[in-house]
Amino acid sequence: MKLGVNIDHVAVLREARRVNDPDILNALYVACQNGADQITIHLREDRRHIQDADAYSIMKHSALPVNLECSINKSILNIVTDLKPHRATLVPEKREEVTTEGGLDVFTYEDEISYAIELLHDYIIPVSLFIDPSIEAVEKSKELGAEMVELHTGSFANIFAMLNSSLSHSNHSIKELDLPRHELSIRLEKSIAAISEAAKHAKKIGLEVAAGHGLNYHNVSHMMSIAEITELNIGQSIVAKSVFSGLAQAVKEMKRLTTR
Ligand code: PXP
Repeated sequence: MKLGVNIDHVAVLREARRVNDPDILNALYVACQNGADQITIHLREDRRHIQDADAYSIMKHSALPVNLECSINKSILNIVTDLKPHRATLVPEKREEVTTEGGLDVFTYEDEISYAIELLHDYIIPVSLFIDPSIEAVEKSKELGAEMVELHTGSFANIFAMLNSSLSHSNHSIKELDLPRHELSIRLEKSIAAISEAAKHAKKIGLEVAAGHGLNYHNVSHMMSIAEITELNIGQSIVAKSVFSGLAQAVKEMKRLTTR
């Protein structure tokens, strides 16, 4: 399995203070040196984390292939064709959303998506489409000319978290999933089956298959058991864990500097 490490969240922390710390290139080097197979970044229209300059310097310095996520907005696509990443992953984007909610609507926006794919192909950039796990969306992705699909695992991850973590007792509990445990278990099985069937169908019709969104240290094993998925793109949980694997050392270091 290929691991794409999404380093956007390091830039989220930097942008929260509008400084140059943490340095995104340090995140790139650490990911490259510790087993990542690919670097994933999302150049959002609102530039809430990765900036254009980050994307250019990551392209210049990355020792690993770069998977650039982007919307089908024409001005963003123009930057992507100039950046020439190893792959572009087309994702839906709404300014007000906290993160990418739901997959690309490959039916409503088929003309725009097909234009984007043709444009990217003109620049020899392979294209993946970030879609909800359904056979219909997989078939449409193939018809539109994509080489790959990334199956959106957000719904699976939400059900998993409501069933197996303290999320349902927190301020971020998901109202639509405030359901009896047996109902959540049934939905979890169904969501895994939908991902598995979509992955099998995608492979059968000649598409490469990735998956991502909301994957973490507890739920990732379910994706590992789907043989057709050959790549996972993971960001939030890796950056969240790194706070705790590094916080003790960071406090110790500052204590040393502030001890007379
Ligand atoms: N894949 C895609 C297409 C995404 O949009 C995202 C979120 O930017 C991810 C993977 C990573 O999701 P997470 O940060 O929840 O691991």
